[in-house]
Amino acid sequence: MNFDIAMTDELLATTRAVRKRLDLDRPVAREVILECLELAVQAPTGSNSQGWRWVVVDDPAQRAGLADLYRRAATAYLSQAGEAAAAKGDTQTERVYGSALYLADHLEKVPVHVIPCLEGRPPENAPPAMLAGLYGSIFPAVWSFQLALRARGLGSALTTLHLVYEQEAAKLLGLPEHVLQVALLPVGYTRGTDFKRADRPPVSTITHWNRW
Ligand SMILES: Cc1cc2nc3c(=O)[nH]c(=O)nc-3n(C[C@H](O)[C@H](O)[C@H](O)COP(=O)(O)O)c2cc1C
Repeated sequence: MNFDIAMTDELLATTRAVRKRLDLDRPVAREVILECLELAVQAPTGSNSQGWRWVVVDDPAQRAGLADLYRRAATAYLSQAGEAAAAKGDTQTERVYGSALYLADHLEKVPVHVIPCLEGRPPENAPPAMLAGLYGSIFPAVWSFQLALRARGLGSALTTLHLVYEQEAAKLLGLPEHVLQVALLPVGYTRGTDFKRADRPPVSTITHWNRW
């Protein structure tokens, strides 16, 4: 099979964290979420563990509950961080925090919240190899899910702030104790489908060949 390289590169390079351009009024069918999850679970997992679980929240009351927890964790932190970035003249980061505050203010209106989870929690003081194996067995799938959404005209943002209140969220969602939440992805159709590459440092400045 020959991939369309230009199209593939465009997908990889322009799948952004979408917040302000999520369409809060257009419903998202469960089928499209399941279709993207089917692709997501083709991602690799450590020891082929496949311990991923996905909690998909489209009930308005449940979304409102999650949004309350998210705001409790996010609002003060994001405002302060945004002001600090502005004081430094870091406009890209200032924009990110402005956009993140917008998401916090509107989260309950985003049509679907997807919470990727893992079966199994790390012990306290888990060594780096264990943590890498654990989180490395879910984030590749999360990113594939985000790419699959983008290819279908939907957008998302990987967020972790609600995890400050992980236990409260677990209670709200009825999660068993051994299930670990790793993120919350607000999902909706995007207003427009054109997204740009972000500014990143040239890889030659952050790549080390053979030794640091
Ligand atoms: C581990 C991780 C945690 C993140 N947590 C949040 C979050 O809690 N809230 C949020 O609005 N964005 C969050 N983001 C999104 C980043 O802010 C975003 O990826 C970054 O600003 C770069 O934007 P881009 O993805 O469009 O290039 C997170 C991203 C990662 C990888």
